[in-house]
Amino acid sequence: MSYSYQITSFEQYKEAYRKSIENPEQFWGEIADQFTWHQKWDKVLDWNFTEPKVEWFKGGKLNITENCIDRHLATRGEDPAIIWEPNNPEERTRIVTYNRLHKRVCQVAQMLTNLGVKKGDRVCIYMGMIPELTYAVLGCARIGAIHSVIFGGFSAQSIADRVYDAQAEYIITCDGAYRGNKDIPLKGVIDDALIGNRTVKKVIVYTRTRTPVSMIKGRDVWWEDEMEHAETQIEKDGVVHFPAASMDAEDPLFILYTSGSTGKPKGVVHTIGGYMIWTNYTFINVFQYQPGQVHFCTADIGWITGHSYIVYGPLSAGATTVLFEGVPTWPDAGRFWEIVDKHKVNIMYTAPTAIRSLMGFGLNYVKDKNLSSLKVLGTVGEPINEEAWHWYHQNIGKEKCPIVDTWWQTETGGTLISNLAGVTPQKPAHATLPMPGVQPQLVDENGNVIEGNGVSGNLCITHPWPGMLRTTYGDHERCRTTYFATYPGKYFTGDGCLRDNDGNYRITGRVDDVLNVSGHRIGTAELENALNMHSGVVESAIVGYPHDLKGQGIYAYVIYEGHHHDENLTRQDIIQTVSRIIGPIAKPDKIQFVKGLPKTRSGKIMRRILRKIAEGETENLGDTSTLLDPGVVDEIKNGAL
Ligand code: WT7
Repeated sequence: MSYSYQITSFEQYKEAYRKSIENPEQFWGEIADQFTWHQKWDKVLDWNFTEPKVEWFKGGKLNITENCIDRHLATRGEDPAIIWEPNNPEERTRIVTYNRLHKRVCQVAQMLTNLGVKKGDRVCIYMGMIPELTYAVLGCARIGAIHSVIFGGFSAQSIADRVYDAQAEYIITCDGAYRGNKDIPLKGVIDDALIGNRTVKKVIVYTRTRTPVSMIKGRDVWWEDEMEHAETQIEKDGVVHFPAASMDAEDPLFILYTSGSTGKPKGVVHTIGGYMIWTNYTFINVFQYQPGQVHFCTADIGWITGHSYIVYGPLSAGATTVLFEGVPTWPDAGRFWEIVDKHKVNIMYTAPTAIRSLMGFGLNYVKDKNLSSLKVLGTVGEPINEEAWHWYHQNIGKEKCPIVDTWWQTETGGTLISNLAGVTPQKPAHATLPMPGVQPQLVDENGNVIEGNGVSGNLCITHPWPGMLRTTYGDHERCRTTYFATYPGKYFTGDGCLRDNDGNYRITGRVDDVLNVSGHRIGTAELENALNMHSGVVESAIVGYPHDLKGQGIYAYVIYEGHHHDENLTRQDIIQTVSRIIGPIAKPDKIQFVKGLPKTRSGKIMRRILRKIAEGETENLGDTSTLLDPGVVDEIKNGAL
C-alpha cells in the first residue's frame, strides 16, 4: 500500500494547498473516499464560527477501528502494529501484530459490552504506557463509547473532577505503572478519586506491577478475568469477530482535558470522521511515512500527541508504532537512542524539552548507538531553540534527516503548521508552512488583520479543518467564549507568532495566561486556585519564567499568613498541596513570599511586572504609576529568587 494523497514535492504541496483552499469540500471529500465507510456522508462540510458549528462528513457512517485495524488485516495482518518497549530494558519486548491487535480490541469491546458499557457512555482510562492502554482506547471506539484518557501525572482530585465533568460511569486502570525507578500506584489514586463517588459503576483493573490493591465487591473487576470470558465469546472456529458499531462521522470519539487561562480544565471533544482523516493525513504527509517503516513517538497517550501520533494516525495508516513505557533517562540517558538502535526506528518524534535534557548528559550516551535507521526527526509541544535543533540535527540525525517542527494543540487534533519532511523547506526553530486546508492569519490586539511578510501578531485560523475540536464537553458556550469570541469569526489559538520574509511561521509562545512547562500545558488561574487552597496562603500569583530545560518554569508569588518558622518547610507544604490538587506536574519551581502583590486600583494583578521580576529584570519594569501601592514592587524586587 502506498498513499495516493502523499505529497512528494514542493510543487505538489503548493498545488494541494491551492486546491484545499479553493474547494475544501472537493479536496477533503476525495481523501475521505480512501477510507472505509458503512455509508457515505450527506455533506462534506457545514460550518459557522459564530455558534460555533463545525460538521465534517455528517451523515457518513463508519467505525474508526475498522479503519485502524480491520482494513489492514488482509494485506498486513502479521505485520507489527505495535512494538512495545517496557520500562525495564531487561523485560521482554512485546510485538503486537495487526491480527493480534484486532483480537484484543474485539475482546475489550466484548468485555465492555458485558459490563454494561453502551454507545455514547464515557469511559475514563488511567493506565501506564502498555499495549492494554491502546486496546482499551480502541475497544471503546469499537463500541462507540467515548474515551477520556487521563495522564498518570494527575492527582486523585484531578481525576475526580474529570470523572464528574464527563459523568463517566466506567474506569479502566492498572494496579500500578512503572516509570523509571518508580512504581506509581494507579489503582490507589483511583480509589482516592472515588471516595464518596456514587456514579461510577465499574472499575476494570489490569495487573501490571502486582502492587496490592483494594478491590470493592460489585464495582471493581479484574481485566484478566473479564477478558478471558470475552475471548470465549468473540472467537468461533478460530475466527475472531466483534461487529464494529456504526457511528456517525460527527459522533464524539473522545474527550481530552486541557488547561486554559481560566477556571478548571475543559474537556476538548473530537469527533470520529474528521479526526481520523486529519491524523491520518498529517501523519502520512508530515513524517513522509513509507509502508513498513517504524515510527517512534515518545509522548504519553495521556496527551493529544499520543492519541494522534502513537495511536490513531499511525494505525489508520497501517504503520508500525513504538509504544515506550519508560522515561528518557532510565536506566540511563541513552534510552531513546538504545530504542532507536534496537527496533531500527525510522521516524523519531519527541519534545524539545527531552532534547534539551538529553543534550545535558553529553554525547557519551549517543556515540555507541547505531542510529543509521533514522530517516526523519520531529519535534512538538513548544518552541525549539536553535541550539537544541542543531544538536538534534547533528548528533541524532547525522545531518541527513530532515526535522519537522510541528505546531498544533489539543484543540487542533493534529498538526496545523509544519514542514513536510524532506519535501518542503525546513528552517530551524520555524514550524514553516500550513498544512493543506489550514488558513492561518495574524491579527493585532484589536483584531486588525496583519498582512504581508516580516510581521508578527496573534495567531488565528479562519476556516475549519477536519481535525478541529467541536465543543468543550457539557459546555458549548465555554468553547465559544474561549476560542471564537476574542476575534469574532476566527478560531484564536492563544499563541503569538512571527511570519518571516518567506512566509514561514514561527510560533513564539502563549500570549494568554497559560504556561508551557516541559511541553505540558498549565493554566495560571488553575495553579493559583490550587495554591490558594493551602491553609496559610492568603493570595498568590503565578507567572512563567525562562527555564533552560523545561522551556518555562513556574514562579509563584505568595502572601502567607500563619506560623512560618521555616520558609523552606512552608514551601514544601505548599508544593504538597499543589501536588494533591492538580498533580506532581504542576509543582512550582520557585516560591517567593511577599507582603503584597502589584495591583491596579481596580484590583487587577499586574502580571507584566511579576513576569519581568521572575525573568531577573529589575530595572525596566515599565509604567508602575497606575499601581495602587507602587511600594510593593521594591519589596518584591528585593526578595526575588
Ligand atoms: C501549545 C499546545 C501539540 C501537541 C502537544 C501540546 C505550544 C505546540 C509547538 C511548536 C511552538 C508549540 C503552543 C500551543 N506548541 N507545538 N512546534 N512550536 N510551540 O499540546 O498541550 O495542547 O499545547 O503548545 O503554545 O498552543 P497542548
